[in-house]
Amino acid sequence: MVKIGILGIGTVGASVANILEANADIIEARAGKKIVVKSGVVKNLSKDRGVSIKLSDNPQDVVNDPEIDIVVELMGGVDEPYTLVKQALENGKAVVTANKALLAYHRYELQEIAGTLPLMYEASTAGGIPIIGALRTGLSANHIDSMQGIMNGTCNYMLTKMINEGAQYDEILKEAQELGYAEADPTFDVGGFDASHKLLILASIAYGIDAKPEDILIEGIENITSTDVDFAKEFGYEIKSLGIAKKVGNGVELRVHATMIPADSMIAKVDGVMNAVTVIGDRVGETMYYGPGAGGDATASAVISDIVDIVRGNQGPMLGYKKGLESGLKLLPKEEIVTQYYLRLEVDDQSGVLATITSSLGEFGISIETMLQKPTKDEKIAKLLFTTHRCKESEMQEAITALGKLDVVRGEIAMMRIEK
Ligand code: HSE
Repeated sequence: MVKIGILGIGTVGASVANILEANADIIEARAGKKIVVKSGVVKNLSKDRGVSIKLSDNPQDVVNDPEIDIVVELMGGVDEPYTLVKQALENGKAVVTANKALLAYHRYELQEIAGTLPLMYEASTAGGIPIIGALRTGLSANHIDSMQGIMNGTCNYMLTKMINEGAQYDEILKEAQELGYAEADPTFDVGGFDASHKLLILASIAYGIDAKPEDILIEGIENITSTDVDFAKEFGYEIKSLGIAKKVGNGVELRVHATMIPADSMIAKVDGVMNAVTVIGDRVGETMYYGPGAGGDATASAVISDIVDIVRGNQGPMLGYKKGLESGLKLLPKEEIVTQYYLRLEVDDQSGVLATITSSLGEFGISIETMLQKPTKDEKIAKLLFTTHRCKESEMQEAITALGKLDVVRGEIAMMRIEK
């Protein structure tokens, strides 16, 4: 018999305990051993958790319990779980965590501490989708050319409603919070940080990249307007918040941002709270993984897959790379990212203005692909919408700064990247 201790009995923890009990027969058949939850840890013992397991409010009761074989960390936060996971590993226990923030900051240290002990984290990325297993094992024969994913259900839910129903940003965010998709602090979702944690975890397995969220390009969906949505529709794009990882020579681009993508691509059709990740391997070609990225049972399904894997004896380096055998790939500086861009700006509607704008872009080597001019409520001001050919991020940032200084340009210039 294998005994589990769970740190954190919230929605996911309660689902783990309940599924292990309700589906015990099939789980035992697959794992080869009976798996039982010995105890769980909560902050407030007086709240009903809807579980039949023994509860404590002291995490030490789990991490120091000699009978517990596997510690499941579902607490959230970074510092306290780091200390407890470290302690559990030092006590010789296997660990399963769903904590993406913990891994975004400490995955390489934890891999070091774990040594040969299993430290698994399927539920940390894209909830119920078995993307970690797919990358660590299923695609291990491949060099990964690129990965692209909808890794935040809240953003996808909001964008779907804004694009399909013309919903207002604030209303729809409130709805996502009420439905329980959003993080406690929703700026984590809409600002792209939640997705960046997941992207960094995937990038470690695919490329051995040891980057932190601060090192990569992260932008949210806060500045998208109905003008952008209408433009995207007119020119055959969908707008999605994507996590993107791309191998370019010996470098890897890592970025999270709102992206215009062709409306007929598979990932463009992923709507609502669902997540999806496409991975292109050099041998297998393109594969795609789709499913629920959040929710108690879906996330618990991923947690239990790790438990079963551990019980079966699955070992191996946590991140897919052993120390000293890294891939040799390095994070590409943000400035060197090369892609196509969409620009939205308001200008004085008078002769010569368009020429000023296009020649300013030309000075930075930026070539225009399409252009649209729209009137505004103020007849003296026009809206200009451009897409550009591929150029460097640094050139685009410099061009935006230069355009912003022109007298004929009014207000902020909005930019979105395009991936084809
Ligand atoms: N807030 C996250 C989302 C939940 O919206 O996808 C899972 O990490």
